[in-house]
Amino acid sequence: MIDFKSIIAKELEKITNIEAIEEYIEVPSNKEMGDYSLPCFKLAKEMKKAPQMIANELKEKLSCSEIVAKTNGEEEPKQESISEDILGNNVGDNEIIEKIEVINGYLNFYITPKAIIKTVLEEFENKQEKYGSSNIGNGKNIVIDYSSPNIAKPFHIGHLRSTVIGSALYKIYNFLGYNVIGINHLGDYGTQFGKLIEGYKRWGNEYDIEANPIDELTKIYVRINDLCKDDEKVLEECRNNFKKLEDGDEYCTKIWEKFKDLSLKEFQKIYDLLDVHFDSWNGEAFYSDKMGEVVQLLEKSGKLVESEGARVINLDEKNMPPCLIEKSNGSTTYATRDLAAILYRARNYDFDKALYVTSYEQILHFKQVFETAKLLRLDPKYTNNLIHIPFGMVMLKEGKMSTREGNVIKLEDLLNEAISRAGKVIEEKNPNLENKEEVAKKVGIGAVIFNDLYNSRIKDEVFDWDIMLNFNGETGPYLQYMYVRTNSILEKAQSIPSLNNISIDLLKDDASIKIIKFLYSFENTIRQSADKNEPYIISRFLINLAQEFSKFYNENKIITEDIELQKARVYLTKCVNIVLKTGSGLLGIQMPNKM
Ligand code: ARG
Repeated sequence: MIDFKSIIAKELEKITNIEAIEEYIEVPSNKEMGDYSLPCFKLAKEMKKAPQMIANELKEKLSCSEIVAKTNGEEEPKQESISEDILGNNVGDNEIIEKIEVINGYLNFYITPKAIIKTVLEEFENKQEKYGSSNIGNGKNIVIDYSSPNIAKPFHIGHLRSTVIGSALYKIYNFLGYNVIGINHLGDYGTQFGKLIEGYKRWGNEYDIEANPIDELTKIYVRINDLCKDDEKVLEECRNNFKKLEDGDEYCTKIWEKFKDLSLKEFQKIYDLLDVHFDSWNGEAFYSDKMGEVVQLLEKSGKLVESEGARVINLDEKNMPPCLIEKSNGSTTYATRDLAAILYRARNYDFDKALYVTSYEQILHFKQVFETAKLLRLDPKYTNNLIHIPFGMVMLKEGKMSTREGNVIKLEDLLNEAISRAGKVIEEKNPNLENKEEVAKKVGIGAVIFNDLYNSRIKDEVFDWDIMLNFNGETGPYLQYMYVRTNSILEKAQSIPSLNNISIDLLKDDASIKIIKFLYSFENTIRQSADKNEPYIISRFLINLAQEFSKFYNENKIITEDIELQKARVYLTKCVNIVLKTGSGLLGIQMPNKM
């Protein structure tokens, strides 16, 4: 697709000799101010002139350029069909800028409608469902560590967020051509397993673990924890159990495996509902035999020190508490396992970036681990590209969703409730719909996913059914509803013309151009979303596009007696249809064909 910004930048560079000028060019949020804008006060220092003067001079010089239309903003008289030079890149004789204006020291550029229509539609004709994709990631590896629930503990709403955000990032990077490795770093190790084993040994036969693994194991855990608080000896037993597990004791390993199998079966139900996948399920236990090397490397660094019987990396210089590497009884820690995982991932995946998606409660943990990782003698290209992707809490309308001390909302129940609530709305709106259940699943799950991804990650999220499932709100169901509307328009039209059968001049009206400009920005939106690891950038884009299309649809007839006009608008509708589906797909939201 033609990159107007970089063409303008090149032209400006020729005149100003400022190489980095592209970085100064902005996309104004108010479209009255043009499609691109150069704030000239940023050049004032370098050029030693007042911004307004610079803007005027640049405008003068640029007017001679062949990319600027000589009509000075007047409509060109000639009617032209795109078919003539469909693959040519010389849009309208290179005149991609319709006019340039100077306002308050800003140099504003207005792209020629024909140029933008042509580039967008040609890209669609060629790429279809791949519209917006790119190959900027080719040859690069991205590791994403997400979901990562803990064995024998509830899969809580924080894990849901991690799953949804991580899975969206996976799809986004993939669409940009990266090779992505999705890892479920299961919490299947640690001293809590020593406790669980102890509880199981004592009271295992009192609980129906097979029937209800997570609930029953949680009960055992709470009970043994209480006992440990009162009885130091029991605690000691628990610690020993974990030590035994680490040393490969047969009995402990067998019970641990049982916990793990049962838990994974439960988790899989949630992954199936969300349609989420992983390339690797290597959890913390996978690193049990790989931590010795970490300890050795840290010893060699000379920074591993004794502290109250334990061994730590002192991070005073970085204003952080020490990173605990080995407990006083010789057991390893969550941090040590993360360090072993970094070594492993660098060696096996040769990552360009390694992302970790967890709640903000682990910000300090990852800071400590990333700092300590610098002592592992890895190439800095790895240690400089470890990135924590924190996100905020999920709040119920009534307050924080707590998982501690048993007050647990079961995730699977929650997702099923979303589906059944969506089913009710659908029943009301469209009682005769076929495959109601399948649609309810897409709408219910889509609502939950969208709600998770509509704001910047770090913001706390409010979980409110009425807001999430509002078909007219800024919601997943609204996107699905608008998509379904485009489907029914396309169905009414019966056939979708190919690009060389439509007259692009019929799409030059303001309403159509507005939509086309949105479509133009799709690719860049996806890139930005990857740059910032923020799926909400795509969510917002999709809502804006859907709202804009809704306006278009209400104000303009798409199916009309004017056959030529209908063809052009149907083509445009098809483009919107594709982008709504592709974009939602990147977030993990599936589109029903009807609803
Ligand atoms: N299991 C952890 C938890 O539930 C999350 C693990 C995140 N990933 C990691 N490599 N530390 O809090």
